[in-house]
Amino acid sequence: MSRKSNAKSAASGAAAAPSDGARALWGAHFSGGPAEVMALINPSVAFDQRLSAQDIAGSRAHCRMLVAQGIIDRSDGDAILGGLDQIEQEIEDGAFQFDPALEDVHLNIEARLTALIGDAGKRLHTARSRNDQVATDFRLWVRDAIDRIDSDLKAFQEALLAQAETHAATVMPGFTHLQPAQPVTFGHHLLAYVEMAGRDRGRFSDARRRLNECPLGAAALAGTSFPIDRAATAEALGFDAPTANSIDSVSDRDFALEALAAAGVCAVHLSRLAEELVVWSTPGFGFVKLSDAFTTGSSIMPQKRNPDAAELVRGKSGRVIGALNALLLTLKGLPLAYSKDMQEDKEPVFDALDTVSLCVRATTGMIADMQADQARMASMAGAGYAVATDLADWLVRELNVPFREAHNVTGQIVKLAEGKGLELSELELGEMQAIEPRITGALRDVLTVEASVASRTSHGGTAPSQVRAAITRARERFL
Ligand code: ARG
Repeated sequence: MSRKSNAKSAASGAAAAPSDGARALWGAHFSGGPAEVMALINPSVAFDQRLSAQDIAGSRAHCRMLVAQGIIDRSDGDAILGGLDQIEQEIEDGAFQFDPALEDVHLNIEARLTALIGDAGKRLHTARSRNDQVATDFRLWVRDAIDRIDSDLKAFQEALLAQAETHAATVMPGFTHLQPAQPVTFGHHLLAYVEMAGRDRGRFSDARRRLNECPLGAAALAGTSFPIDRAATAEALGFDAPTANSIDSVSDRDFALEALAAAGVCAVHLSRLAEELVVWSTPGFGFVKLSDAFTTGSSIMPQKRNPDAAELVRGKSGRVIGALNALLLTLKGLPLAYSKDMQEDKEPVFDALDTVSLCVRATTGMIADMQADQARMASMAGAGYAVATDLADWLVRELNVPFREAHNVTGQIVKLAEGKGLELSELELGEMQAIEPRITGALRDVLTVEASVASRTSHGGTAPSQVRAAITRARERFL
């Protein structure tokens, strides 16, 4: 479509004067103007202009379908497509003037189209309503966001796997109740997050699959009397099929709720890792050093290295969870079909999905840069009698003591060691034999941290051999 013929049709068309605002598009039966406060509460263009690209894509698909079905003339269709190209360019260049008097992104683009190409622009809205238009735009936006987050999460898994490989045999204390429990390998601990991120990706991709039906053609709520081809518009926009029910199409935002639910769970996973990074990087733990790139100093305390990125990831999980609540609460009392309440759907979704993407990327950076202090981790791995379970397991395995009894015997030995301020391996053989006479010197071999982790070879266990096998499988499953 040449600019020249655009200009010609623009000259013959009557564009809405900007001052008429949206009323020029829908207000023929109105005589009064909006209240001042209405002009503040009603418009959404300040935030829904983020749907511009999706709105233009939807309009192109709708226009081509209208032409193919003979509902509008090809010449009008060409003018519309040319006008949409120009609008797309104007938006890209930052030259497009979004006008709050035109309420939302849909009316802004439509008004500009008519200003550019004249009467042909007024035909685009045939067999369409803003209700199916916004439902379509929003699905397209959420779908794009899900795809972005999926690639963010994949990069996060890659960073975790690289560190897990480096630290497949690095020992550290494993905790329950944040009390030393049993020694584990650092690689194994990091692989736990690879699994969480994998399920997060699964939840997003489930949501995407159900989302991927096209509401366009539902019109206001009842469908349309025009001979539209909904399969064609669905296909043009990359949807699997048109939605089945026109009322459902314009009423529900469960696709956004599902994305927010996936985002909430993901944010909680990131927050737990962030919490661990905060704790691990304190001098008290000293397990890891976060890089300069993800920490800040203090203006008064010259020694400080604050884990700001981790704290922000932990903190931002709250607003992501809040967004899910906000949209659930917005929707819960709404009768079918569309109500203007639903204009409130966008800001929490934009914010939460942007935030999750940001948090995944910041966490990936922290993990990739993080330096583990292996000596420090090893020195703490055996603290707190972390190999006590290995002692009990030895009694079961070598002496055929029932586990409950072995637990009790080990407890007595731990008590003895505690009283003397010694590690289990530092006790005299005779002292242990006073509690269980059948104990032999061979017991000492299992009372090291290295022997403890190496012995845990069950599927999914912490032994370095298992960790290396798990890394190989994870790369096949996720990357
Ligand atoms: N800006 C509106 C929204 O985001 C678009 C749909 C308006 N539909 C209507 N019937 N007023 O929900």
